[in-house]
Amino acid sequence: MVPVVTYQFLSTRRDGTVEHLTLNRPDVRNAFNEHVIAELTAWAAEVRQQAAQGTIRVAVIGGAGKMFCAGADVTWMSKTIHYSESENLRDATAMSAMFAAIDALPLPVIGRVQGAALGGGAGLAAVCDVVVAEDAALFGFTEVKLGILPAVISPFALAKIGRSAARELFLTGARFSADRAREIGLVHVVVPAAELDAAVDQYVREFLAGGPEAIAAAKALIPTVSGRSIADATPITAAAIAARRVSPEGQEGLKAFLEKRAPSWSGRVLDTKDTKHTKDTKGDHS
Ligand code: COA
Repeated sequence: MVPVVTYQFLSTRRDGTVEHLTLNRPDVRNAFNEHVIAELTAWAAEVRQQAAQGTIRVAVIGGAGKMFCAGADVTWMSKTIHYSESENLRDATAMSAMFAAIDALPLPVIGRVQGAALGGGAGLAAVCDVVVAEDAALFGFTEVKLGILPAVISPFALAKIGRSAARELFLTGARFSADRAREIGLVHVVVPAAELDAAVDQYVREFLAGGPEAIAAAKALIPTVSGRSIADATPITAAAIAARRVSPEGQEGLKAFLEKRAPSWSGRVLDTKDTKHTKDTKGDHS
């Protein structure tokens, strides 16, 4: 396990090619202020760079202490009364850029949610590809209860939960259960707290068994194709699969299947001494 970069409000841990990020302001339930936003944006840039080098293949985002994340820091937001309109706009734009940077990371991002994910915390869950939540976790787009609104997170939340749930949940600001979050697509798996890490690890293993470039291309395909007609999408999707088929990674994956062996990237996931994993993933071509 190699620590990568030191942050003030985040902690990171590297486990092979898996980057574990922990929001680390447990005294305020990991709320975001401008410093956390800057650090998360820098973290996403670092992960993007390392993903391109193949040194990070999966990221897991969690929160220290009792809660995943209580959203924007209310103390910080209340101080913005003294900011000019352009300063307020600058801050909101920076927050939006942070969510967009995580949303577009070219690798799978897993959210590990315990306690609560409220406001921007629910937004952070929305920019993860997979969210695993403990069964007691609470979610909420609670902003209207504070007289503000879930503006910056809305594109990311809407992409996950759709308009109908958003009309209910953005407008009431009500807190809702992990089961409800799963029903509306914000969460993928709900487990007892004691099983949270095992459920995250299961997804990590699943992602490490896939071709990293193929996973990045599959992730990029979703926002590109979403909302297009089939006629508009066809040239894009045909070009995407054609490029993958002839790519070295695509060729390796197809050959590995036919030769009944593990593809080369399954060896890249771990310490080369770990032969058990290679054996476990052999023949997993699902
Ligand atoms: N911003 C700043 N501080 C926050 C915060 C936030 N979003 N959420 C919690 N805190 C602070 C509390 O003010 C408290 O500080 P204190 O110890 O100085 O009094 C501390 O974190 C612990 O909060 P507390 O409410 O006592 O903890 P809890 O574990 O009982 O409940 C929450 C945690 C997250 C459920 C609760 O604090 C909460 O509902 N927070 C507001 C969440 C929200 O609406 N976020 C949307 C913001 S747009």
